[in-house]
Amino acid sequence: MDQWRPDSWKAFPAGQQPHWPDEAELDQALKTLGDLPPLVFAGEADQLTEQLGRVANGEAFLLQAGDCAESFDSSADSIRDRLKVILQMAIVLTYSSGVPVVKVGRIAGQFAKPRSSNTETVDDVELPSFRGHIVNEPGFTEGQRRANPQRLLQAYHNSASTLNLLRAFTKGGYAALSEVHAWNQEFVASSPAGQRYTALATELDNALRFMEACGIDTASQSVSQVDLYTSHEALLLGFEQALTRQDSRTGNWYDCSAHMLWIGERTRDLDGAHVEFLRGVQNPLGCKVGPTATVEDVLGICEALNPDRVPGRLTLITRMGAEDITERLTPLLKAVDDAGHPVVWVCDPMHGNTFTSPSGRKTRRFDDVLAEISGFFAAHDAAGTWAGGVHVELTGDDVTECLGGAQEIADEDLDSRYETMCDPRLNGRQSVDLAFAVSDLLRT
Ligand code: PEP
Ligand code: CO
Repeated sequence: MDQWRPDSWKAFPAGQQPHWPDEAELDQALKTLGDLPPLVFAGEADQLTEQLGRVANGEAFLLQAGDCAESFDSSADSIRDRLKVILQMAIVLTYSSGVPVVKVGRIAGQFAKPRSSNTETVDDVELPSFRGHIVNEPGFTEGQRRANPQRLLQAYHNSASTLNLLRAFTKGGYAALSEVHAWNQEFVASSPAGQRYTALATELDNALRFMEACGIDTASQSVSQVDLYTSHEALLLGFEQALTRQDSRTGNWYDCSAHMLWIGERTRDLDGAHVEFLRGVQNPLGCKVGPTATVEDVLGICEALNPDRVPGRLTLITRMGAEDITERLTPLLKAVDDAGHPVVWVCDPMHGNTFTSPSGRKTRRFDDVLAEISGFFAAHDAAGTWAGGVHVELTGDDVTECLGGAQEIADEDLDSRYETMCDPRLNGRQSVDLAFAVSDLLRT
């Protein structure tokens, strides 16, 4: 393999890149980005690799969750509510299963979307597809769909302000264990899962009070602060390259746009630019693994992205669909295990279960989501490997985008609060419900 450089990906075919009509403007925006401060520090990415190494060893569980496509218009409340749900899920998983939970958001940078078609046609008008707020706008006019390089800069500033708020919440007391009741939003609290959560939070409060009475310091960092790491799909390689910096401590390169970056199902080609770019940065990496992935594909990904077999370096995010998961996943688990590759296996139960409902909405059934997770655990049982985590698309808002759950959202309900810019997300109730279901699987 030729030597890696931050721009060596340019010699390889790069799928899913927008067509930028004004190249000079693009170059100028990328140059400006290259002069801006990094968003994360290399040492934080190393810490995440270390924690994911514990997941690879079967000693911890990964919760990776957040929006499908973040919006530039996200309010502080919406960011806070997404954080609340992630904290709720993590506490349910930790308390019920007794396993430490590594928390990674699809947040503070999840702006770019791969699309199945370059263009969209409505009433005989053909325009470029919407590729996420980092590229263009969802509205269907020529101006809105034009790929605008200024959006790369806006994505950077938006990531920075989101990350700043998350750091304030997670380090400033909001995420302290004493606040568990406060994370339960009203619309969640009234559901069966929300009530189960309230009972758990009360037990936890009692345990904390007991510890205090025994003289244990409950103001310590491990109880009052949370580590929440950021991640997104590393799709726009010019943007990712511009934020890639050499660590002054070690000389190693890090993509400082987020702690963890993943490669999508459509861009995991071993001879493609995305694999070439990511193999050279030291961040922990993810790669989606869909239903067509063969044993050779998966072993090729492991060799390309983690040749030194560092535990925690590589997370494989499977998204096979509820029906075929156990049958398709089991041989992959065995092959990777036999090859001695330390991999974090995570289940994305969302992207293999998307369909268009009779009312015309893109949706997912909550039961299919649960079924894929059960199949994922069953495959790991069969192969003797560790079911390392879940990767879900959610929002803290009270939306109606996925069918079913305790609220029994039906096709005719989808219209009432269908707000996603891309894929259907679990709402706060469905997310907490899911966390209880996963902790039951983790316990058995
Ligand atoms: C995603 O995670 O939003 C996504 C597009 O997934 P995939 O690459 O697995 O289709
Ligand atoms: Co999605």
